[in-house]
Amino acid sequence: MKLLEGKTALVTGASKGIGRKIAETFAQHGANVAFTYLSSVEKGQALESELQMHGTKVKGYRSDASKFDEAEKLIGDIVTEFGTIDIVVNNAGITKDGLLLRMTEEQWDDVLAINLKSVFNVTKAASKIMMKNRKGVFINMSSVVGVQGNAGQANYAASKAGIVGFSKSVAKELGSRNIRTNVIAPGFIRTEMTDVLDPKVVEGWEQDIPLKRAGETEDVANACLFLASDLSSYITGQVISVCGGML
Ligand SMILES: NC(=O)c1ccc[n+]([C@@H]2O[C@H](COP(=O)([O-])OP(=O)(O)OC[C@H]3O[C@@H](n4cnc5c(N)ncnc54)[C@H](OP(=O)(O)O)[C@@H]3O)[C@@H](O)[C@H]2O)c1
Repeated sequence: MKLLEGKTALVTGASKGIGRKIAETFAQHGANVAFTYLSSVEKGQALESELQMHGTKVKGYRSDASKFDEAEKLIGDIVTEFGTIDIVVNNAGITKDGLLLRMTEEQWDDVLAINLKSVFNVTKAASKIMMKNRKGVFINMSSVVGVQGNAGQANYAASKAGIVGFSKSVAKELGSRNIRTNVIAPGFIRTEMTDVLDPKVVEGWEQDIPLKRAGETEDVANACLFLASDLSSYITGQVISVCGGML
């Protein structure tokens, strides 16, 4: 069964990692997929042709989610190209880690702008279309770190906790228009973002996870598929952890 037949989805930050797998899963399930990337231009372009084999409409956009005007333009361009937007996955994110005493203002500002302000930018622009349609779905990518904190990631944790408060508020504001807003809090998922970590540290973490393994991108993409589809039509304002039991 194709769960997203006839729907149009936007996935931000889909040139690699979790976003890429979400875009792929949505296309496999019949969605028309618009996606964004920023610095990985070649990967973004390659993904566009790769996803077209699923037979739905696919287009990649180079767009910085942290810039308010770019997000507005992006949503306008997608509506012109695809006709509408039914699902938005606010996935784009970065880390710029450091202990508080060493963290620079730039590290703080960059992470807050790309991880949190981006969610405001894209959600605000897309919600206008969804309100007219009187339906829509937002899925916002937080992290277990946003719930429990992590030494060396005060900026990242703050941005991810901010996403939870933002999403719960939007769920309350837009619920009456049949617009659902939920949050995914991944634990430790194997991607380029985590490939830079010391393998010994990773092994230690895996031992502390009740399911005794790191998550894969498809673990997160499958949760997104559920939240994007009508299977979750009575679920809004929730945080779903995809963390192998870490939380
Ligand atoms: N991996 C984990 O263990 C884990 C755990 C919890 C939460 N998460 C969250 O899950 C999301 C995806 O993480 P990931 O591990 O897949 O990371 P990743 O492999 O580093 O991919 C990040 C994606 O975000 C895009 N991006 C970065 N800045 C952007 C901007 N300003 N505008 C638009 N796109 C931008 C990147 O595009 P370009 O490369 O083209 O710039 C890339 O496609 C993030 O929000 C992350 O915080 C990840």
